[in-house]
Parts: sequence; C-alpha cells; structure tokens
Amino acid sequence: MCGIVGYVGPRDCTDVLIDALSKLEYRGYDSAGIAVFDNGKISVAKSKGRLKDLENKMETEGRPQGHAGIGHTRWATHGEPSDINSHPHSGKRVTIVHNGIIENYKKLKDFLVKQGKNFLSETDTEVVAQLLDYYYDGNPLETIIKTVHELEGSYALGIVFADFPDTVYAVRMESPLIIGKGEGESFIASDVPAILKYTKDYYLLEHGEVAMLNRNGVKFYDIHKREIEKELKTADWDMDAAEKGGFEHFMLKEIHEQPESIKKTIAPRISDGLPCLEECGITPEKLKSFDKIYIVACGTAMHAGMVGKYVIEKLARVPVVVDIASEFRYRDPLLTDKDLVIIISQSGETADSLAAMRLSKKLGAQTLAIVNAKGSSIAREADMLIYTHAGPEIAVASTKAYMVQIAVMYLLAFELALASGAIDESQCRQLTALLQSTPELIEKILEEKKQAQYIASKLITADSLLYIGRGLDYALSMEGSLKLKEISYIHSESYAAGELKHGTISLISDGMPVIAVATQTALFDKTISNIKEVKARGAKVVIVCRNGYEPEKDVADYKFGLPDIDDILMPMTAVVPLQLIAYYTSVLRGNDVDKPRNLAKSVTVE
Ligand code: G6P
Repeated sequence: MCGIVGYVGPRDCTDVLIDALSKLEYRGYDSAGIAVFDNGKISVAKSKGRLKDLENKMETEGRPQGHAGIGHTRWATHGEPSDINSHPHSGKRVTIVHNGIIENYKKLKDFLVKQGKNFLSETDTEVVAQLLDYYYDGNPLETIIKTVHELEGSYALGIVFADFPDTVYAVRMESPLIIGKGEGESFIASDVPAILKYTKDYYLLEHGEVAMLNRNGVKFYDIHKREIEKELKTADWDMDAAEKGGFEHFMLKEIHEQPESIKKTIAPRISDGLPCLEECGITPEKLKSFDKIYIVACGTAMHAGMVGKYVIEKLARVPVVVDIASEFRYRDPLLTDKDLVIIISQSGETADSLAAMRLSKKLGAQTLAIVNAKGSSIAREADMLIYTHAGPEIAVASTKAYMVQIAVMYLLAFELALASGAIDESQCRQLTALLQSTPELIEKILEEKKQAQYIASKLITADSLLYIGRGLDYALSMEGSLKLKEISYIHSESYAAGELKHGTISLISDGMPVIAVATQTALFDKTISNIKEVKARGAKVVIVCRNGYEPEKDVADYKFGLPDIDDILMPMTAVVPLQLIAYYTSVLRGNDVDKPRNLAKSVTVE
C-alpha cells in the first residue's frame, strides 16, 4: 500500500525521493508526490499515475530543489486517484505524507470545518494535516504528540513544518516506518529496499515513537516527548535484492530465485536428516500437544495454508481449518488454549492477518507466525516464529514467498507427524530428503519455461478460464488461478474437479481454456475423467502432469510435464508452471507485470 520516504542530507532531495519511491513501487500505488524545502519554502509536486507521470509534470511545472523533504506513493482508499487526492497534503504551516487509515477522520473533519478550515481533497490525510495545523504552537514535537492522541487507526506519517526548514519528522502508530542512517544524511522509509542504495543501517521506529531528522542527525522521542536511544540495525539484504539483475521483470527473477530460497529456508531447520524447529521455539512435544490447527492468512499466503492443510492432515492426522483472515476475525472463532493458530504472511503487516493473530492470542490459543519480513509486526507479536528466507519480494504477485511458505508447511507436517507417531523416523527422513531434492527439480522445470510461454500464447485472447484439480492439485489450482487473474486481468476460477458437474460445467463453451492440474497418482484417473467431460464440451485443455503421461486427443491440447516425485511433494514443483503461465500471459497482453492495477503488495488496511 502507500509508501513513505523522506530525506535530509547533501544530495539533491528530489532525486533521492523519486529514487527511493521507485523502490517502493512494488507496494502498489496509483499516484505519487513529494514536498521539498526549496530555498527555505515547502514546494510540493504531485500527480495521479506512476512516478514517471510525476517526473513529466515536474519537467513542465518545475522541479523542487533542496536538501530535505518527504515523498509518497498513494494507493487510494479515501477518494479516487487524482492529482488533488495525491499526497503530500498541507495545512497552512504543515505538510504531510501518510500511510494507513484514520478511522475517526469524519468526526475530526466536521470539527475542523466548524473551526473554519477548508478542505481541498476527499482524503483522511488532509484531515491530519489540518489538525496538526490547528494544534501547531511553534513546537513540532508537542504538536505531533497532541495530534496523534486525537487520531484513531493504524498509520505512519512523514511531516514537515514550514517554520523548521530542512527538518523532517516521522511518527509511527502501528504502520511500519524505518529511519535510515548514512554518512551525514538520514532517511525515512516504509520499507528497507527504499534506502538500500544509500545505506544498510537503519532504526526500526516502534509504535508511538517520533523521529526528528535534521542536518545534525536523528533524534528519537517516545509518546511522552522523552528523548530515547534506539538500537541501530543493519539490513542483511544486498542491493541486488532490490534490482532486476538482468531479468525483464522482478516476478521472473523471483520465480528463478525459488530453488535458492527453499534451500535458505529449510537448511537451517534440518538437523541430521530430520526437521528441527527448536530455534523457532517449536519442540515436538509442544507441537503434538494441540488438538486442532487453524491456518489464517490472506491471498497467496492463504493458498499456502491450503497446501498445509492437505499435507498436515494426511501425514500427521491432526485436523486443520484454513481461514481467510478477514472472515476469521469477525466470525467469533471457537478457539481454546488447546488450539494452534498459524498465521502466514509475507509482509508480516497485513492488517487482517495481524488482527486475526491478536484475537487468537486474546482467546487463549497459541500462535505461530510464518513470516518473510524481518522485524514486522506479526513476527514480533507471535508466540512462535518461523522466518522464511526468500529475501525481499518486489513483484506484487507473490511467487518465491509462496514457495517457501509451503516448504515450511512440509517441515511442520513432517515434524508433527513424527512427534505424534503417525510416521516413523525412517519415513520422516525420506520425506525430508525429498523436500531437499525439490530445488534441483525446480531448476529443471525452469529450463522448460518456453513451453509455459507457448501455452500462455494460447490463453491471451480468453475472456475467462477455469483451473481444476483434486486434492493437493485443487489446493494448487487456487494459487494458479489467483496468479493469472492478478496479473493478466483474465477472469479465472479454480474448482475442485469433482465439483464441476454441480454447476460450473455449464460455463464451458467452445474454445474456453481449462487448466487441469493432475499430479496426484491416487486421484489421477478420476481427474482425467473430469477433464474428458470438459473436453467433450469444447474446452481447450492445458494439462499439468507428470512427464510420463502422454494425453490422448480427447484429454488435452497442451501439456506441461513435471519430473517425478512423491505425490505429497508435487505442489513444490507443480506451482512453477502455473506461475510461469500467469507471468507470460501477462507479458504477452502487455500488462505491467510487477505492478498490476489496483493491487498492493502489503495490505495494511482492512
Ligand atoms: C496482498 C498481496 C498478495 C498477498 C496478500 C497477503 O493481497 O497482493 O500477494 O498474498 O496481500 O499478504 P501477506 O504479506 O500477508 O502475505
């Protein structure tokens, strides 16, 4: 969602802000803007659209020049994407950028209107700018603290005061914010990749903390205006992580990074050929003490949970409920202290997932987070934590993060199955070794990417298509379908192949593409029968199956073959062609693959 940046230092501030914002483009946005102290005065430039639209506008209308300022990419929530609604927003003496939502903005706006304040935009942000202005008494820190006491919601702000040139303030209320520290310069940013080009050293602002950046460095204050010391952290990501490294898109790069990401994620959790999650606070005794497991997440992470459900239930014989976080949190879930709630999240900041985790803790359940972003809110608040080591994922459509999420699901399932006696040690060793062999198999699949490109070329004119499968193949179809619709904008649905006859098959018309995932040996014949049913009704079928199977004409038109591995581990490999097909379909349709319309990478609002 919205991205915040800020800079104070000797470089050209506008250049730094635009460059830093470009590193946050992955979060999703529909307008951008900056505010820079230009000869002591705040100069604002903002525009609907992409950063290049802002650059074009600055070329004709003037480019602010200076050494301190704030910048923003906006993902519209209150009011359509437009020049007026873009950030920064200003009161008379205060200009701000904002991430998150002010829940009581309506009430505050009514109050401010009564005080004679005029509003130009429909945003909740402008209400904050005007409220800061209302409270402003010549002391920025006092003003900020007074204002945040009035605001409800989760948010982060970057603030400049006209009376304090070349000084930038930042405050965090839930929504993440980091403060970068370079040589004689400092930064604010919503996420580390924004500043990696300039420095790896940063402070993590905590909830309720304020930072003040000026030529002399950075000072931090708590909500009681007391100055505080903070620990300097160093990012372990290198610059390459935020660059495309020769690939046309981040998504393709990230698909290729999957074998490495799996190795990095599972290697430290395997000891003597068996899963070992003790460093994450998870012992076999603890794992087997739960009666039931809930997996709660959003989007792709929820689909990783679906794979987890099939695998844990099959191997460990423990019931698993998978829930969408936005539903779970409002349906009064039946949790007890005998339940384990697993929250899966790439960003660790998804508002609904975070709220679902807090609720679970309140109801007495134990929580285990599977998170990619280090130091994120979900990671910090969970009772137990397994970090996935995919590195930063920049493309909005998640690929490598999903891959490592399911890799962790396997490790958990193996450990739990062994602990509960559902499998013995030699079976567990065998399964663990198979999991370790998947990176090599994925490398082989990636060599066949031309076949995925060819299949994609047959899909680009479709209006709608179906993904079908049974069992784990069904769980996987959900992710395949989501990937395609996210970035190609072609409507698609995933269906349990056996359920088609109960309604959905009426959608099949001549030439409609159906992508059938058929990797599960035990269900193979049944799936083939379902495929024949759609084929007989005119569907154009793509089958994703094992290399050894050669489909007859009455089954499929195109095939993507996969190397053999045990049924249970097939999702680790079978998802790759689904990702590639979605990727190439999007490329061939000329879409903005890494930044699909309307979507955000990190969804910090409900
Ligand atoms: C957004 C992203 C998805 C992601 C979902 C959950 O919708 O576009 O790619 O799967 O949020 O995000 P999380 O960071 O919690 O995994």
